[in-house]
Amino acid sequence: MLDAEQLSFSYNFGKADAIVALKAIDLRVAPGELVALIGHNGSGKSTLAKLLAGILTPTGGRFSVDGVPGEEAQLWEIRRRVGMVFQRPDDQLIANTVIDDIAFGPENLGLPRAEIEVRVQRALAALGITAVAHKQISELSGGEKQRVAIAGVLAMQPGYLILDEPTTMLAPAMARQVLRLAHELRDREGLAVIHITHFMSEVVDFDRLVVLEAGGILMQGTPREIFARADELEAIGLGVPAVTRFARRLIARGVAIPHDVLTADDLAQQLSLRVNGSSAMHTPSPEPVPENHIGAPLIAVRDLRFSYMAGTPLAQEALRGIDCAVYPGETVAILGGTQAGKSTLIEFFNGLRLPAPGMVFYKGEDIVAADFNLDRLREEVGIVFQQPEAQLFEDIVGMDVSYVPRRKGLPPAESRALVEQALAAVGLDYEAFRLRYVYALSGGQKRRVALAGVLAAQPKMLILDEPVAGLDHVGARS
Ligand SMILES: Nc1ncnc2c1ncn2[C@@H]1O[C@H](COP(=O)(O)OP(=O)(O)OP(=O)(O)O)[C@@H](O)[C@H]1O
Ligand SMILES: [Mg+2]
Repeated sequence: MLDAEQLSFSYNFGKADAIVALKAIDLRVAPGELVALIGHNGSGKSTLAKLLAGILTPTGGRFSVDGVPGEEAQLWEIRRRVGMVFQRPDDQLIANTVIDDIAFGPENLGLPRAEIEVRVQRALAALGITAVAHKQISELSGGEKQRVAIAGVLAMQPGYLILDEPTTMLAPAMARQVLRLAHELRDREGLAVIHITHFMSEVVDFDRLVVLEAGGILMQGTPREIFARADELEAIGLGVPAVTRFARRLIARGVAIPHDVLTADDLAQQLSLRVNGSSAMHTPSPEPVPENHIGAPLIAVRDLRFSYMAGTPLAQEALRGIDCAVYPGETVAILGGTQAGKSTLIEFFNGLRLPAPGMVFYKGEDIVAADFNLDRLREEVGIVFQQPEAQLFEDIVGMDVSYVPRRKGLPPAESRALVEQALAAVGLDYEAFRLRYVYALSGGQKRRVALAGVLAAQPKMLILDEPVAGLDHVGARS
């Protein structure tokens, strides 16, 4: 049993700039239980995870794991029992190669060589990464690193596994596989899993949901109980699974189905009951189609072709004759599987990559023409990258967000107004955040700051490369 009683934690405890992250948490997790921890960016999820895994020590209250008290002297014992996969896999991977990294934990436990081998092979197979076992960590994609981090923790064979947003960087199929693995480990080995996520549809088949808000537990219960309280969740900026949301819209339009529909199968069954029973469903009138294509395109792309490592035996075709245009005021979605070339394409939109002449035009001008102003293009077309925290380059939030306004030499009052608006647009209060250190933000808060920095540059066009990974429902919408 993992048992927390009145657990609290403040960063910079006892100092003037202390930040209360958790207050009076009472939480018990039984062996073999599947628990999901959900909550707003900054609500304290990662902090709670680190306390339970013996990585941080509480500044108030008590906790124990299978009777072992969570005190300084026992932290190693706690860490052996509770494995944690961090929000950013880079924070966790230590060795140079995949196989060495996974073996690191078991080696530290002083296990015999043969046992270590077995554990490493099993963990590699469980995560489907046997093929990259001898690769350097630095050569892996974000998703692969995440899997190595999980494998490394599994090789320790903990009784409790905490996954801090393990699916944010994974393609949907891989994310489902990681979740399936969590269920299997529970069924086969009796492992308890605490899963932190912003994807509500991932947790509908969990035993229990725990909702954190501003450092406290707001509610806990089965997924059905929690998602039936959609209005309360909305009020604190959290969503419900897409299927539940859709069912609620049907209910609002007079379709008599229960409030706690959680899965597509559930909904299909409820609807087939209705359709067979009566024809009460009315067809809603179609929403008016917004007008678009006003004026000339901002960006026009003509027969854009691009290969990585062109002219070498390793050449790999990434873009194969793309034609498209983006007009002022338009919202455009770029879809495609992993490696379909989405990120490569958008790098041409703001001149991070340069095409051959005659392929990419900004406001009618060829971006590789001799007299084209590339600096202006880069200022006017803002990109929020897949891992926005990688684009934070100042230590202090206010400095980071004001970077472009300052570089443009705007008067301080104007620059300040832009920063304030940009932070407000991403749901962060100017006064509360402007002097915060970037490194001391939660994962989602960092992403919001990165987005604010791009907004403060007042782009004419904003490109978002999978920016909502790791943002809560409200963060993702704003
Ligand atoms: N190293 C740190 N120093 C100071 N404050 C911190 C530090 N890490 C987190 N915090 C603050 O503690 C609070 C809880 O942060 P935590 O990382 O636990 O949130 P979270 O629920 O995991 O958020 P997210 O969904 O964005 O990952 C936030 O107010 C955050 O800004
Ligand atoms: Mg977190």
